[in-house]
Amino acid sequence: MLPNALQRSRADHVPVLAGEVRELLAVRPGETVVDATFGAGGHAALLCADLQGEGRFVAVDRDATVRPYFERFQRDCRVPARFLRGDFAVVLGQLAGNGVEADAILLDLGVSSMQIDRPERGFSYAADAPLDMRMDTTAPRSAADVVNEADERELADAFRRYGEERFARPIARAIVRRRGERPFERTSELVDVIRSAIPAPRRFGDGHPAKRVFQALRIVVNEELESLERALPAALSMLRPGGRVAVVSFHSLEDRIVKRFFAAQARGCVCPPELPICVCGKEPTLRLVTRKAVRPSPGETAENPRAGSARLRVAVRA
Ligand SMILES: C[S@@+](CC[C@H](N)C(=O)[O-])C[C@H]1O[C@@H](n2cnc3c(N)ncnc32)[C@H](O)[C@@H]1O
Repeated sequence: MLPNALQRSRADHVPVLAGEVRELLAVRPGETVVDATFGAGGHAALLCADLQGEGRFVAVDRDATVRPYFERFQRDCRVPARFLRGDFAVVLGQLAGNGVEADAILLDLGVSSMQIDRPERGFSYAADAPLDMRMDTTAPRSAADVVNEADERELADAFRRYGEERFARPIARAIVRRRGERPFERTSELVDVIRSAIPAPRRFGDGHPAKRVFQALRIVVNEELESLERALPAALSMLRPGGRVAVVSFHSLEDRIVKRFFAAQARGCVCPPELPICVCGKEPTLRLVTRKAVRPSPGETAENPRAGSARLRVAVRA
């Protein structure tokens, strides 16, 4: 039986695949745990409970507004805990560079419910607010900057690649035409332009018409894929032998990056097959704990629709 977790508030972000993350990260007393995407600390509370009062906890998040959640967590977590604000790609690299070692690292990617549900953050197409979407509110470029400055082709490519938006080109064209009259400032202005650029019969049936463009912009503004690409090797270099890394991703582009990284690190010899013996000497650095991504149960998705697209992959330092 896993020990009871710390108390949480009903308004918090609901941790996704929480039981599976806890089971597969298998934190033991005395270990060092790094939660690289602290959010409301839902996963952190569970992992901290498994330390049973022995070990260390490092929490990372690029969003300074999670600090009160960390303070509540720190009061209840019975081990020394630190909060480091910043992009996990940078922070994990710095920790590794300073010789900090970890036994368990979690990356639960994307945005939290608190970020989406606070209209003033500008992540939601459902509420009128400044067109912002920065997880780190001190970052230099907001969604309005991207929409007002990127050229038409860049916008169309981003909408297609990161949002799988079928009307990427007409939407990008409509944005460029509209910003020639007046720059975009608010989410509702963008929603109106997206809606008008999608042919009327196609505006309904595949979710909100602005859903895919908003996802794409969020990924661009926060450089989400670049951060993930840089964070994975940094996480690996922090792990002690036997240390575990778990990544929860929410769309196929993220999951592909994780899957490829884990597979490449789990591979041994990379010599061409025609060589009779290995000359590369490459040893695997990771062992896969999950061969296929773990998906949420229908029950979890019914209770928390945001969990629907989650995929969990876990690997162990060889
Ligand atoms: C899905 S939420 C995590 C929720 C958390 N696991 C919980 O149970 O409450 C993702 C969090 O990671 C943060 N985040 C996303 N990308 C980040 C990055 N590159 N560096 C640091 N924090 C990041 C977001 O600001 C957000 O608070």
